[in-house]
Amino acid sequence: MHELQDLEVKLKDDLTPEQMLHIIFHYISLIAPEKDLDHILLYMADMGRELILADRCTLWLHDKENNLLWTKVAHGVKALTMPAEAGLAGFALKNNQSIFIEDAYKDARFNPEVDLQTGYRTKSVLVIPIQNQQGENMGVYQAINKMTLAGVFSSQDIDLLTLAASYSGKALEAAILNKEIEQTQKEIIYLMGEIGESRSKETGNHVKRVAEYSKVLALRLGLSPVEAELIKTASPMHDIGKVAIPDSILKKPGKLTDEEFALMQAHTKIGFELLKKSNRQLLKSAAIISHQHHEKWNGTGYPQGLKGEEIHIYGRITAVADVFDALASDRCYKKAWEIDRVINLFKEERGVQFDPQLIDAFMDCLEEILALKEEYAD
Ligand code: C2E
Ligand code: SIN
Ligand code: SIN
Ligand code: FE
Ligand code: FE
Repeated sequence: MHELQDLEVKLKDDLTPEQMLHIIFHYISLIAPEKDLDHILLYMADMGRELILADRCTLWLHDKENNLLWTKVAHGVKALTMPAEAGLAGFALKNNQSIFIEDAYKDARFNPEVDLQTGYRTKSVLVIPIQNQQGENMGVYQAINKMTLAGVFSSQDIDLLTLAASYSGKALEAAILNKEIEQTQKEIIYLMGEIGESRSKETGNHVKRVAEYSKVLALRLGLSPVEAELIKTASPMHDIGKVAIPDSILKKPGKLTDEEFALMQAHTKIGFELLKKSNRQLLKSAAIISHQHHEKWNGTGYPQGLKGEEIHIYGRITAVADVFDALASDRCYKKAWEIDRVINLFKEERGVQFDPQLIDAFMDCLEEILALKEEYAD
């Protein structure tokens, strides 16, 4: 809660034009090269706040698909969302109109919901819609609680925020597009993994579980959260090459002949050939995983017979996740094993089929992995 004395302590003098320019140049130099949308939103919020001496400033973006306004208020914190028609932000967006208000609680358009969520007390408000290069509204800049003696926003503040938005517009739009493309890639990868899975009639959630286990193992090994997320997104593609394997082999209820198994093994190379052409990091990672998930630590795996750390860490991770799930689930050619039997095999194969540090990581995370197995049970 911001009581009056609280506000007085924070009161500021209006900025000189030199100070304003300094703020704009400072933030534009940060924003222009930035590719990450969340970072841009936070920089723009800071720039707006400093420029017009607001206590808080938020850049809300319009998510047309879900008809929401959303924003980031801090790193690592989940996005804040509200319906696209809600409150002053929604009003400004819909009517393409700036709004100033001296006391939000005296204005019927104000939606106190966000204050309830954040525990903050809104008084003066300024909201301006912002446009993309085509002149379509893409969101609003919202400033709350002017920190000068006057206590209300002015028309100069509108000009300043508009200027700040237009300077950041190109970087902002590029980052929005970038995020959209990444999201689309993730969906396509996941869908392709599901296609591979449905062709081979593997149990319903196999690719989902392999993805979840791989992420847990990656984090346990000390890979960064970003890389763990990359592995989680790419690992559902490990068996995509099975789309090229005939049903007579793929769905054979019994044991494969040597000849059939040799054909089956080609799913690793086929997947790699499909995916390697892309320059995208995600598809490159998926290509590695597809290629190397049947390599073995002692060099007896396929298709290349790689040994130890010659096998990419992504391949070593997915191998453990995939075999665990294959053993612990029913297959057209076998019944699910008891967990203890799987664990015994993993202990025997530590440093033989599997990277010893991965088996250690697996044992350390066993509880979490079993919980995920439950959560994504078929
Ligand atoms: P998958 O069913 O996803 O199995 C993945 C891996 O889990 C296997 O790779 C193997 O390392 C491990 N695994 C699965 N079941 C067993 C088992 O009973 N014992 C042991 N020790 N390990 C097991 P692998 O062997 O390279 O097989 C690759 C794929 O080939 C399998 O993927 C499956 O689609 C197919 N496949 C393998 N053997 C047979 C079979 O006997 N009959 C049929 N129809 N398909 C098979
Ligand atoms: C903020 O107070 O800055 C975020 C929530 C709101 O827009 O009221
Ligand atoms: C708005 O004021 O329109 C958005 C934030 C809120 O609803 O409190
Ligand atoms: Fe495979
Ligand atoms: Fe698999």
